[in-house]
Amino acid sequence: MKRIGVMTSGGDAPGMNAALRAVVRTGISLDMEVYGIEHGFEGLLDGEIKELKWSSVGDILQRGGTILRTARSKRFLEDHCQDRAIKILRTFGIEGLVIIGGDGSFHGGLELSKRGIPVMGVPGTIDNDLGYTDYTIGFDTAVNTVLNLISNIRDTSTSHERATVIEVMGRHCGDIALHAGLTGGADYILIPEIPADIKDVCKEVLRGKQAGKGHSLIVKAEGVDFSTDKLVETLEEVTGMETRAVVLGYIQRGGSPTERDRMLASLTASKAVRMLYDDSDSRAIGISGSEIIAVDLEEALEMKRPFDRDMYDLAVMLS
Ligand code: F6P
Repeated sequence: MKRIGVMTSGGDAPGMNAALRAVVRTGISLDMEVYGIEHGFEGLLDGEIKELKWSSVGDILQRGGTILRTARSKRFLEDHCQDRAIKILRTFGIEGLVIIGGDGSFHGGLELSKRGIPVMGVPGTIDNDLGYTDYTIGFDTAVNTVLNLISNIRDTSTSHERATVIEVMGRHCGDIALHAGLTGGADYILIPEIPADIKDVCKEVLRGKQAGKGHSLIVKAEGVDFSTDKLVETLEEVTGMETRAVVLGYIQRGGSPTERDRMLASLTASKAVRMLYDDSDSRAIGISGSEIIAVDLEEALEMKRPFDRDMYDLAVMLS
């Protein structure tokens, strides 16, 4: 393979730039040409493609977001657009593609793969919601950002003796809430994997109050099936505690990637390029324990993420 393409797609994640740097520099080291596709699948359809040199990815390792920009493309879901994308890739002489993104981006990649272009998926999403890999690029940074914010919120929550609901990202996967909640000492963690009733949260907060706890921190993933507003309203009503909500939103998606995310990005992205160089079929690259793995792309997308019940139980016990 002589010429490969690379794109970032879906929600940006800290470490995507580190992955891009590894793609470009591994590719050049293997005597390949690397073309960057801007704005994900949208940019592919619009032919926003240009060659990336060694220096194009200088000074980006420490930057959050993605210098290639990203997008969520509705157009690309249509068959005729996927056919067009293949024609565009062929026009540019691109023989294989690295897609840095999450589940939706990998599904897009699978369509291209079925049409004859080998695709390597590099897991870039803060959600940590891909079944085939232990971790995704951006998750560690997001959790640490949330953890710092929980500590700040704890200061004010204790001072005012309030209950505070902290909403974090995660539509289908509660990993950000679980990891940051456990390590941030949340009194209650609400995640999509464990259905809970607002009444249970109220009972727990009341129990804490009766045991002499002056304040309460509840970490809630956005994918939980009742709203944060409803929770705040009910908590105030039932517990009599002044209650506030903080929706952390995009703050947790930005920022300089941690060492762990930069390392995961560098290892998986470099592996992706070496797999293309070796003419491999499409794969999703990830990590299992301390081993970098390459799983058949279609099979990887079928794998369900195992839920860490022990971690949840530990968080409950320690709260
Ligand atoms: O996929 C990552 C993610 O940050 C989710 O946690 C969140 O639900 C979603 O993206 C937000 O997407 P958008 O940037 O399109 O608002």
